[in-house]
Amino acid sequence: MRRTPALRSLIRETDVRPGDLIAPLFVKEELTEPAPITSMPGQSQHTIESLRKEAVEIAERGVRAFILFAVPARKDREGSEAWNPEGIGQHAIAALRSEFGDEAVVIGDLCLDEYTDHGHCGVLNDLDEVDNDATVELYQRIALAQADAGAHLVGPSGMMDGQVAAIRTALDAGGRQDVGILAYAAKFASALYGPFREAAEGAPRFGDRTGYQQDPANLDEALREIRTDIDEGADIVMVKPALPYLDVIRRAKDETRFPMAAYHVSGEYAMVKAAAQNGWLDERRVVLELLTSIRRAGAAMILTYHAKDAADWLHG
Ligand code: PBG
Repeated sequence: MRRTPALRSLIRETDVRPGDLIAPLFVKEELTEPAPITSMPGQSQHTIESLRKEAVEIAERGVRAFILFAVPARKDREGSEAWNPEGIGQHAIAALRSEFGDEAVVIGDLCLDEYTDHGHCGVLNDLDEVDNDATVELYQRIALAQADAGAHLVGPSGMMDGQVAAIRTALDAGGRQDVGILAYAAKFASALYGPFREAAEGAPRFGDRTGYQQDPANLDEALREIRTDIDEGADIVMVKPALPYLDVIRRAKDETRFPMAAYHVSGEYAMVKAAAQNGWLDERRVVLELLTSIRRAGAAMILTYHAKDAADWLHG
């Protein structure tokens, strides 16, 4: 049954379509031209104009979903630009909504690390520890600002306890029952976010995120996090990173039957790109194999910086 391409196509169990992919894009306030991200070859921090252009090129290839990360010009201790109706994040969401209407899904990444001067995903107490409950109240404001800017979905990525329930309550109370939640449900404290922190300029100035992100060693705990987010009202639950955690995706899919997303993160992208640039790997074959593996593990959708290239290859 493997003898010819046609036979192989007939018995193939898993496919990847451009429509399964979500492209992460970065936008930075006060840029005049796109700024390439050195550790993520092929990716840039965008101006609003170059963001639109890049999104259109990606959409032409059949990828119909975008998640937006914004870097403000002004950061403060609370991260107040995150909920400014005129903030860069809201302008980016609005730009893609005006470009696509409902022809693409526009997702706002909902967190504070790009907006706080200390780089943590939440506000700090007097001991410089993240204050979970005070942070969740700020997430409610961000959710409403992103909804008002036109986000179809918000994606809380800070791993605060109770964030999904709080955001659902705030959206409903604000008359935005129509906005869904893509929950970063099992987000591990991973070394694979390194390049992203250059892209989003959100590296913590002190300490790390092990106090709120998950221990890579824990599978049962990941399942508890995922179940909690589903109970709190998440519409899609995400595992992040993807490849080291395919077992988490598979088990969560089997046990919950819920729509699952996987985030194939910046470090995973950078490893492939670096090896490909050295001529050590065939980028196209590797990327399609990796994306297929993530789908086979049970993810309905994949957030990936390879989205644009992969969509080309899938057509080709
Ligand atoms: C935090 C956030 C991070 C990523 C997405 N959202 C970084 C972190 O938790 O430090 C990483 C994504 C990637 O590495 O591609 N808001």
